[in-house]
Amino acid sequence: MLRDVQFELRLAERMSRLGTETAFEVLNRARALERQGKDIIHLEIGEPDFDTPQNVIEAGVEAMRAGWTHYGPSAGYPELRQAIADEVGRSRGVKVAAEEVVVVPGGKPIIFFSILALIDQGDEVIYPNPGFPIYESMINYVGGRAVPVRLREEKDFTLEANELSHLITDQTKLIILNSPQNPTGGTLTKRDIEQIAAAIGDRNIFVLSDEIYSRLIFEGQHHSIISELGFKDRTILLDGFSKSYAMTGWRMGYGVMRADLAMQIARLMTNSNSCTASFTQVAGIEALRGDQGSVDLMRLEFQRRREMFVAGLNRIKGFSCRMPKGAFYVFPNITATGWQSKRLADALLEEAGVACLSGTSFGEFGEGYLRFSVANSMENLQRALERIEQWISRKVN
Ligand SMILES: Cc1ncc(COP(=O)(O)O)c(C=O)c1O
Repeated sequence: MLRDVQFELRLAERMSRLGTETAFEVLNRARALERQGKDIIHLEIGEPDFDTPQNVIEAGVEAMRAGWTHYGPSAGYPELRQAIADEVGRSRGVKVAAEEVVVVPGGKPIIFFSILALIDQGDEVIYPNPGFPIYESMINYVGGRAVPVRLREEKDFTLEANELSHLITDQTKLIILNSPQNPTGGTLTKRDIEQIAAAIGDRNIFVLSDEIYSRLIFEGQHHSIISELGFKDRTILLDGFSKSYAMTGWRMGYGVMRADLAMQIARLMTNSNSCTASFTQVAGIEALRGDQGSVDLMRLEFQRRREMFVAGLNRIKGFSCRMPKGAFYVFPNITATGWQSKRLADALLEEAGVACLSGTSFGEFGEGYLRFSVANSMENLQRALERIEQWISRKVN
């Protein structure tokens, strides 16, 4: 007879190496506090507070009605791949063919699949720290060696070629760049990119260039390493629809890479998702080819908010904040408050009703900073500043 026994969950060892994105945990904690009746201002999650542009919604709805509800090719529909190739070719000044594009459900799967496809046990991957936590998580998950390159406030959080060149070894297989950057809002100038390209030289190292915030740049222009001579074949350019077109929930992003690697990433798609949702892809064509007015409006609004919020933070005792050049985050230095980042972020959530992230959610070099997303209304951002200021005036002397 079968007994009623408790079965132990026996996970694969690699699961102990998988990290996370704290933004979702903080969001859950904030929601739990809201259920208890607390009023929370959400500055933790990195998603535009705008709705998807109407022309894109219409295209998606129309596509569903027209029967775009079936499986499609693993690498994406040829028309969308071509539209992406045209857009990336135009904006980055390189020739891109449709076969060099893979459409996936969000920008994140390009990180997941690139690391799965390229990194073996012991291979070294250099990545920005503070930086998007999924890089480190995935490198560790596949058994790679995660090698952080520190982004420094005094260098405006740029990734310095000099520091990078000291970290490159014979084991380096991949270097991750991210501009505009999450969480610092730092950007790489043309000169930075040239120096990084020179530091890599002609080594057979791939670059994963995460450009998901490429349309959200407030000062200067966006530059990509894919445009540098000799880098087209060694670059995986990640971009997508989530941030530029306020389409986070649609789940669609893409990678641009040499065609032989694109075929391998498509094999990973076949093994995992089969394909990106078909009607979503039709909406993607409209997003790229239709009116771009809403992208410009969103960027201008983020710019206004960033200016107001940074000025407000700089008036708060113990905070000092640089003006980010891109993305929709601000990353103040809070060391002068005397508080550690995680404790301060927890206290602001629980006692001041402002949800933000500890800089350490983005790696060890994020200690001493907090990340606020300005993807919230001017009014809420102003209320958040008042709450933080009041709380600090009580707790920090
Ligand atoms: C730097 C960076 N890369 C990639 C992503 C993933 O974007 P998506 O929602 O399209 O998967 C994010 C999302 O926050 C991000 O900040």
